[in-house]
Amino acid sequence: MPPALIRGLCQLLDNSAKKLVEVKDLKMHFPVYAGLFRRKVGDVKAVDGVSFDVYEGETLGLVGESGCGKSTCGRAVLRLYDITNGSVKINDIEIGETPQSELRPMRPEMQMVFQDPQASLNPRMTVQAIIQEPLDEHTTLTKAEKAQKVGELMDAVGLNRAFAKRYPQAFSGGQRQRIGIARALALNPKFIVCDEPIAALDVSIQAQVVNLLEDLQEQLGLTYLFISHDLSMVRHIADRVAVMYLGKVVELAPREALYATPKHPYTQALLSAVPEPDPTKVTGADRVVLTGDVPSPSNPPKGCNFCTRCPAVMDICKQIEPTYQELEPGHFVACHLFETTGEQGGS
Ligand SMILES: Nc1ncnc2c1ncn2[C@@H]1O[C@H](COP(=O)(O)OP(=O)(O)OP(=O)(O)O)[C@@H](O)[C@H]1O
Ligand SMILES: [Mg+2]
Repeated sequence: MPPALIRGLCQLLDNSAKKLVEVKDLKMHFPVYAGLFRRKVGDVKAVDGVSFDVYEGETLGLVGESGCGKSTCGRAVLRLYDITNGSVKINDIEIGETPQSELRPMRPEMQMVFQDPQASLNPRMTVQAIIQEPLDEHTTLTKAEKAQKVGELMDAVGLNRAFAKRYPQAFSGGQRQRIGIARALALNPKFIVCDEPIAALDVSIQAQVVNLLEDLQEQLGLTYLFISHDLSMVRHIADRVAVMYLGKVVELAPREALYATPKHPYTQALLSAVPEPDPTKVTGADRVVLTGDVPSPSNPPKGCNFCTRCPAVMDICKQIEPTYQELEPGHFVACHLFETTGEQGGS
């Protein structure tokens, strides 16, 4: 039985699965300045009121189109930004408002693997120095102990120890991502945000890196927030999936429920665009093609964010923002089609 399935089953049986990360109404707005005096003229609402939990040992997938705020959300959860509003709890400790200087002792617990291993590794440092950097910053290990730990980390991610003195340029894309993963693992973190960790890699290498992440999760009991726009990959790796559109989570559900019975029209459109590997099942009938562009996050539409492109749009959608509610156990949707309370709009 695949490990992800076992974890899912365990989670179903154990309703008390511990929440490692709790995010409530998270907002991350970037100010926009213009004119001679660099006056503030507005905000880019990159993340605009997002709530979700990540349970210990699970992988929560975060999907959505380019620019919908996935990376900003991942970085804000790790407090790489000073957030605009909201609460972020990691292991029951509120870090939403904590000043950066006081976050330092918590940094080892939470790490990030970046999309582009080329850009995120310093070309002037050897692999040894890159992986060792977090140990230098956060531990008092001796030189020999650090070298030993770097060797172990290189073994864990499938890199040859003999290459420790080489520079990142000497490695292929997949190997560079392994270096990034080894660095993220150096301080024995509990929670890792993987921001499109395979998007920059060749298809043939993607599966290897995903398998490595899965193996490490099982061995080390890691918890992942896995950001991706590749719905097939997320289906493979995630236990639950959150779908983002224009700074908001529109639907969040266990993987099986999301892929079998997507509720939000945006999720349906996203899933209908995923190629079907079995040609006999392709009918073309249920393909939803979205028209128009994604509105700007500095000027989102009134009411529901998705109302300008939604195939099932109603009058109410253009006026009132839908509430994010739990439709079935664990299945959250923000859409007027499913609002159980309040006024219903006609279509
Ligand atoms: N530092 C910043 N300053 C101003 N605007 C920003 C900043 N970072 C991100 N944005 C804007 O916030 C929005 C969300 O960006 P983000 O990178 O989070 O999207 P994404 O979903 O990760 O996209 P992609 O799939 O392309 O990586 C975009 O409109 C982007 O231009
Ligand atoms: Mg991104």
